[in-house]
Amino acid sequence: MSKQAVLKLDDQEYTFPTIEGVEHEKAVDFRTLRSASGYVSYDEGYGNTGSCQSEITFIDGEIGILRYRGIPIEQLAKNSDFIESSYMLLYGDLPTQAERDRFSGLIKDHAAVSPLMANALKGFPSDAPPMGILGSMLGAMSCYNQDIATNNRVTDLENFDAAAATAIAQTATSAALAYRVTRGLEGNQPDPSLSFQDNFLHMMFSEPGKPYVAIPEVSRALDLMLLLHADHEQNCSTSTVRMVASGGANLFASVSAGAAALWGPAHGGANMAVIKMLEEIKESGDDGSKFIDEAKSGKSGKRLMGFGHRVYKNFDPRAKIIGQACEELLAKLGIDDPCLDIARHLEQAALADDYFISRNLYPNVDFYSGIVLRALGIPADMFTVMFAIGRMPGWVANWREIAMNPKGKINRPRQVYQGPALRDYTPVAERG
Ligand code: CMC
Repeated sequence: MSKQAVLKLDDQEYTFPTIEGVEHEKAVDFRTLRSASGYVSYDEGYGNTGSCQSEITFIDGEIGILRYRGIPIEQLAKNSDFIESSYMLLYGDLPTQAERDRFSGLIKDHAAVSPLMANALKGFPSDAPPMGILGSMLGAMSCYNQDIATNNRVTDLENFDAAAATAIAQTATSAALAYRVTRGLEGNQPDPSLSFQDNFLHMMFSEPGKPYVAIPEVSRALDLMLLLHADHEQNCSTSTVRMVASGGANLFASVSAGAAALWGPAHGGANMAVIKMLEEIKESGDDGSKFIDEAKSGKSGKRLMGFGHRVYKNFDPRAKIIGQACEELLAKLGIDDPCLDIARHLEQAALADDYFISRNLYPNVDFYSGIVLRALGIPADMFTVMFAIGRMPGWVANWREIAMNPKGKINRPRQVYQGPALRDYTPVAERG
């Protein structure tokens, strides 16, 4: 029998069961707290709340561990690729060759967006933020793929393979289209002869009569970037996807909400914010020392972007992998990016500074990812979109976990009301 937790409130004792995860994470199951005692648990920001039991990704932030379906991210980064890891996130296990071929084929088959959807994309202003376009396009996928997006749990699940492939493939296609259309360029059709990442680079950068051919180092760096972002447990955007899915919304509607949640600078928008910060430091002639002082003082709301994490109180394992990949890629491409020098200096200075040490603030995945993306030729306004392409399999896997749970409940938190107490309506003539 599992341990019991006893809570004493108003001279009464209440007993709650506990739950233990596979990696011995412990939780008190407070689901009956309100019905038993009239109290709710209060945890603004959910820093101490397990919102679900999941089988997809495990993080131990205290020691810097990240595993997809049990496999350490370091092993996946070394041996796997984005498509294989995506399959595993979605379906639970590494694919056989035949399963991989089928999955990869489905993604290629669903890569082209409907001509009507491509046309709708042209209606956005040329200065529209690509994340705004992407979020809209993800929502619009429900309209252009109605046969596989039905808002009906049973038929949504029957169509899961096609819907998942569409979401993953058309996120990349829509992103490349958003990039080209806002620059007044014609969109490129997907090329099924190419790998996922090479096809994306082709859709972004091929010009009439001048196909873009990715060199292996560029192709591998992009694949690694996508793989490292593919899932990350119950973060802000994934929790949003699960929240929307819990109401029965179809896959496309749910991941569109995820993209909106990702946009903010405290979450997926951090990769853009890091490059902006590094550029500003460079232009001011600072080597990063002055900026660190400002970030420590909290003046003008400055933070060392790309540092700190709600869960990691140690190195983000993705940051270690990406930091090294960044060094190797820039060396291979012969790029001398002054922002890399500033980033290195910021990292060294922060890791030796008591402010950052005492708050367990370490580099996160976004600290070096912007420099990698820039070296690949991706402009800064597309960085968060790149994060969304990478995160799509994780969102889809989490949507599936919700959709497959027949006992699942709509997510509906409580609140502690602090507004005006009961008062009477005042007619307009009597209002001061
Ligand atoms: N620079 C300076 N101080 C910081 C930073 C930072 N990047 N992050 C946290 N702090 C300080 C914060 O001011 C607070 O200090 P004090 O205790 O004196 O008030 C303390 O550290 C705790 O901060 P918090 O905001 O309560 O921590 P949180 O867990 O709510 O926030 C975070 C996590 C990621 C939002 C935050 O660290 C941050 O804003 N970092 C910069 C943005 C960033 O890089 N985000 C990407 C996260 S990784 C990608 C993803 O998965 O989304």
